[in-house]
Amino acid sequence: VIKININLPERSYPIYITTGFGDLESCFEHAGIEGKVAVITDENVDRYYSQKVQLELENAGRKFFKYIIKPGEGSKNLNTISGIYSFLINNGFDRQSSIVALGGGVVGDIAGFAAATFLRGVNFIQMPTSLLAQADSSVGGKVGVDFKNCKNIIGAFYQPKFVYINVNSLKTLPARELKAGLAETLKHGLIIDENFYEYIEYNLEKIFYYDIDVLQHITKVNCRIKGDIVEKDEKESCLRAILNFGHTIGHAVESMSDFKLLHGECVAVGIIGAYKMARYLGMVSEDTVSRVIKTVERIGLPVYIKGLDIEQVYNQMFYDKKVKKGILNFILPKRIGEVIICSVEDQTIIKSVLSEIIK
Ligand SMILES: NC(=O)c1ccc[n+]([C@@H]2O[C@H](COP(=O)([O-])OP(=O)(O)OC[C@H]3O[C@@H](n4cnc5c(N)ncnc54)[C@H](O)[C@@H]3O)[C@@H](O)[C@H]2O)c1
Ligand SMILES: [Zn+2]
Repeated sequence: VIKININLPERSYPIYITTGFGDLESCFEHAGIEGKVAVITDENVDRYYSQKVQLELENAGRKFFKYIIKPGEGSKNLNTISGIYSFLINNGFDRQSSIVALGGGVVGDIAGFAAATFLRGVNFIQMPTSLLAQADSSVGGKVGVDFKNCKNIIGAFYQPKFVYINVNSLKTLPARELKAGLAETLKHGLIIDENFYEYIEYNLEKIFYYDIDVLQHITKVNCRIKGDIVEKDEKESCLRAILNFGHTIGHAVESMSDFKLLHGECVAVGIIGAYKMARYLGMVSEDTVSRVIKTVERIGLPVYIKGLDIEQVYNQMFYDKKVKKGILNFILPKRIGEVIICSVEDQTIIKSVLSEIIK
């Protein structure tokens, strides 16, 4: 078991990186958690992993409950939350009880929001099973749901008691989802750690063969990078914004494509956009841009998308959280492994970049 600590002013917590579910009970004990446990999962993940988790916990004498939601972003709303509240009340959940998120980022965000709000907060445990969730969403404490077509607009900062990552669970993850998760992984290297970027570049084939040592290493570095940034800026005032690298364009593309593309796929396109924009502004060389494009292509992620309207994507970007006084702010690369926040006012540059990634 690899253990990483996330140190926050009010409450610190560990991330355990493992290759099975056998250490789960000792993590519960170490966190001093007693009481009922509700595992929230989705239909896909339930099929593979609920039973193993249930066995571990019941063998230790814990009262186990399970709530299964439909997979996908469509479940990330207040109706699902309302169903969970009823379930918890009907089963007599109290302040000592715990909610476990067993699944991808959708399950994590939903279960975390339920945990943050039920009885003003009950114990929350993250057991992420997708690469995106293991690399990104399970670390940092952002939880929430969508509301009336607005993504993640209702939510809270709520840190888990611990995060339990079984990297072996990635073996059942569909290849397209694995690649989408790699977009955020690659992002971590690109924003702050050139060695990590090179490690991913070098070990791509092993990742696709689910090499456990490589996956464990990647998960460890992912959590450490995201953890370091969150430790320095828990509530996203400034530094944490660099995690949005590739997301200004990525989010706009994601909403305009009616959510047919996966989040990671849109982030990949957004990352290429950021490199191209930095190239326009003379911040990086053409060679660097080509190198990143090549890595993204080798992963099997898109470097451009078809069928969108450039004007519409441009307008959509102004809904971004980082828009200040009507000026777009982009996180742009200075090199591989370093980014800075830049406000870009020149419409022609932005639209030229968009025309290169929207075909
Ligand atoms: N809270 C945050 O900081 C944060 C950060 C990034 C993304 N997110 C959110 O995360 C969500 C996306 O997460 P995601 O990509 O994990 O999506 P997801 O939860 O929908 O999972 C993707 C698909 O993979 C399936 N799946 C998950 N693990 C599996 C496994 N081990 N084996 C087989 N199938 C498995 C799921 O059932 C689903 O169909 C979005 O809602 C996004 O807003 C949150
Ligand atoms: Zn993202």
